[in-house]
Amino acid sequence: MKYFITGGAGFIGSNMADRLLSELENEVVVYDNFSTGRREFLEDALKNERFTLIEGDNLDEEKLKESMKGCDFVFHFAANADVRMGTEHPEKDLKQNTIATFNVLEAMRANNIKRIGFSSTGSVYGEATVIPTPEDAPFPIQTSLYGASKLACEGLLAAYAEGFDFQVYIFRFVSILGERYTHGHVFDFCKKLKDDPTQLYILGNGKQRKSYLYVKDCMEAILTVIRNADEKVNIYNLGTDEYCEVNDSVGWISKRLGVDPKLSYAGGERGWIGDNPFIYLDTKKVRSLGWKPKATIEEGVVKTVEYLMSNPWVFEARN
Ligand SMILES: NC(=O)c1ccc[n+]([C@@H]2O[C@H](COP(=O)([O-])OP(=O)(O)OC[C@H]3O[C@@H](n4cnc5c(N)ncnc54)[C@H](O)[C@@H]3O)[C@@H](O)[C@H]2O)c1
Repeated sequence: MKYFITGGAGFIGSNMADRLLSELENEVVVYDNFSTGRREFLEDALKNERFTLIEGDNLDEEKLKESMKGCDFVFHFAANADVRMGTEHPEKDLKQNTIATFNVLEAMRANNIKRIGFSSTGSVYGEATVIPTPEDAPFPIQTSLYGASKLACEGLLAAYAEGFDFQVYIFRFVSILGERYTHGHVFDFCKKLKDDPTQLYILGNGKQRKSYLYVKDCMEAILTVIRNADEKVNIYNLGTDEYCEVNDSVGWISKRLGVDPKLSYAGGERGWIGDNPFIYLDTKKVRSLGWKPKATIEEGVVKTVEYLMSNPWVFEARN
């Protein structure tokens, strides 16, 4: 199989590239504009003759079409993955997520490629009324531009499945942790503690409850689904069967770093506009296919801290 990965130089995409290349029958084409992606993440992939890197933008329709030629399956991971800054540049989520996804679908259509795996998000559930939140929970009241743009992408994928006989796999992730992680609260806390280990300022009240998934478990979940689920539109939550408070996470991070910072809080239930104070997805559906995560949330946090400690360059590379 020849896989095309948009955003394949990013955190999740580069992990998928390596995972696919570990199977000898696979070829991988990564398409990335390097806005947040890093060449270093593709160090191993670039040594592999079954791997091709194309520097390109999803908003460049012609290049996208041309680059996809000969591929069998598309993983569309490229996006503006930053949830917090949505209200500062509202057009970014629309362009980088929704319009870019439309371009990816059109490029697939032009190349007669019919299968796509898409990274959506648990943010589409807004402030869910059913917790743990199953895929068919009542929604959507959108609370972030990011979630709204991703939900629009989901709609496009489903419409292409119906209209053009595509087979689509929509993954609603909780936050993902692990090697090559470059954005999110563990990154922010480690960066702040590296600069000043004596104190830590936390957005919200620290009691926000969140679920997290380790990136390698996430990769296995995605492959399990695309290899076993066979509906036209396949929607799967991906997460762990547990959640933690931001304060728990701060404790694990501090312990691993060997620091004891004085904590202060911005206050309020939410860390930012659109922050959901309780994210916990029901993952029975993906578990019914035989997948289960190997890492606990605590192990995922610790592996992330260890990655960041041994790769301090990522702090300079991304703010
Ligand atoms: N990391 C998480 O916790 C998480 C949770 C839920 C959903 N997601 C989704 O998973 C996907 C991957 O997220 P990530 O954490 O790896 O983010 P990331 O920022 O590390 O990766 C995104 C990649 O896409 C590339 N990119 C961005 N815009 C592009 C464009 N216009 N054209 C070509 N390439 C472009 C970037 O250079 C980067 O390599 C995103 O769609 C994100 O919304 C991530």
